[in-house]
Amino acid sequence: QTPRTPLIAGNWKMHLDHLQAIALVQKLAWSLKDARHDYRQTEVAVFPPFTDLRSVQTLLAADKLSLELGAQDVSPHESGAYTGDVSAAMLAKLEVTYTLVGHSERRQGHGESDDVVGRKALAAHRAGMVPMICVGETAEDLEEHGAAAIPLAQLGAAIAELPADADFVVAYEPVWAIGSGQAATPEQAEQVARALREQLRDLRDDARAAATRILYGGSVSSQNVAGFLRQPNVDGALVGGASLQADEFSRIVQFEK
Ligand code: G3P
Repeated sequence: QTPRTPLIAGNWKMHLDHLQAIALVQKLAWSLKDARHDYRQTEVAVFPPFTDLRSVQTLLAADKLSLELGAQDVSPHESGAYTGDVSAAMLAKLEVTYTLVGHSERRQGHGESDDVVGRKALAAHRAGMVPMICVGETAEDLEEHGAAAIPLAQLGAAIAELPADADFVVAYEPVWAIGSGQAATPEQAEQVARALREQLRDLRDDARAAATRILYGGSVSSQNVAGFLRQPNVDGALVGGASLQADEFSRIVQFEK
């Protein structure tokens, strides 16, 4: 029996303006209200672009929808002359619960190092948010080092500066599975998730390792989500493309093991 509440998170990436965002959340709310069974044992979060956060937050607060809000990135700095950055305090003020840090699209496209990812995780924690630390190997890494080595190193670096009692979520997203339609198998995801949890036991303690949620991401759909969630060490999914369609995301949220 797992004590961890499953978490299904939708990363919208750079899609949807604020009006489209409102429409999607409204559709999602309708669809979840009609849900066949009680999905509320699952936590659901959406990660819209920064420009949509205020609109979505207002909607969630007004309708008392049981959705959590996440941001896709956060500045490692507290405040100051950092043009274009958005601080953790600004996000926390908008009732943003989670923020992604270290998504592979930022590591690759914006040159984010492990050190920057660690500082972002710390900034999020200090502002009262929960960092969702993304880790994952490329196809070349997989070939060269196997599946777990890079994710383990990335996780170690990302939590190095976090206080021992800090809460965080880990999202294992093999880069080769993102947006490719070629998801990892549930067994592959479990193998890395188990290794990540073992590492948390070493770097933290049994209690933190047992309490930390480890998600799988990479071409998750309503067709394959249950297979991942059946794995003992996989506690949810970080969904990209499939989170942009209310019906499909709603089916994912209502996964049945
Ligand atoms: O963060 C989620 C993501 O990178 C996975 O994207 O489109 O393969 O579900 P997708």
